[in-house]
Amino acid sequence: MSPEFQLLPTQASTFAFEVDALYFFLIGISVVFAGAIFLALFYFAVRYRRRSDDEAPEQIEGSLKLELTWTIVPLLICMVIFAWGTKVFFDASKPPVTEDTIEVLVTGKQWMWKLQHPDGTREINELHVPLGRPVRLTMTSEDVIHNFFIPAFRTKMDVVPGRYTSIWFEAIKEGKYHLFCAEYCGTKHSEMIGHVYVMQPHAYEDWLSGGVEGESPVDAGRRLFADLGCNSCHKEGPNARGPSLNGLFGKEQALESGGTALVNEDYIRESILKPMAKVSKGYNPVMPTYQGLVDQMGILRLVAYIKSLEQLKPSEATNER
Ligand code: CUA
Repeated sequence: MSPEFQLLPTQASTFAFEVDALYFFLIGISVVFAGAIFLALFYFAVRYRRRSDDEAPEQIEGSLKLELTWTIVPLLICMVIFAWGTKVFFDASKPPVTEDTIEVLVTGKQWMWKLQHPDGTREINELHVPLGRPVRLTMTSEDVIHNFFIPAFRTKMDVVPGRYTSIWFEAIKEGKYHLFCAEYCGTKHSEMIGHVYVMQPHAYEDWLSGGVEGESPVDAGRRLFADLGCNSCHKEGPNARGPSLNGLFGKEQALESGGTALVNEDYIRESILKPMAKVSKGYNPVMPTYQGLVDQMGILRLVAYIKSLEQLKPSEATNER
């Protein structure tokens, strides 16, 4: 056994310990019961063996006490597993709502990961994050289903074309960790790997400032919004052909077909690619599809821009050009 042998990867995120504890609890339960069944089997085989050819065993006609025991005990154990598992699941799926959460955009494509930080810094197959700050990834795929897996953080999520998934984590240990694609996605699936670097906060800031200069997703989204001509319809005023997007994110939007839709990442994405799916009340279905005109990272940037209009009151926001 090599000195670096580890049963499990390093516990490098806030919920890694919880996940492992639950895992060992499940293994413990399985071992205890498998062991008990084996011992009972062995004991009964010996204890109640047939001692002579004409020996007839005494018949047992059931026992309420016994049946209640083997129903209630497993039920209680299952409820513990359920409650504990639910807690770990929610801890791992709900990012804490804080100002300093870093929002990173991720797109998977055969066979690489592309990532972008809030300030515009881009990376391929690498992710740099600071120690002790929540990081939330919003992910989608350009082609087939991939899976973003960081074993040391005990976090893993499918990255699916046509929709957004997200994960979050807060790193608690400096170091370099594996990043894998954990969904078979074609010939070079096994090469779709990378590393996550957890750095001291000041080192992270240094790294960011030395990174490849790029526009922030919000700025890039604003530029795309103008380049694609979105602002020729989506503007303030009674004559606008499309609804103004200022302050729209997070609201319930009334639909032409009746009912409402929550304006979230998926709704905006759908409206860009399939404008006819959910037309806003009071508007004609005249928006063309932008399928093929804008790539996945582009859509993520448009979403980031539209999201940034969230804080502005309609009067404060400007429609450029
Ligand atoms: Cu991407 Cu496997």
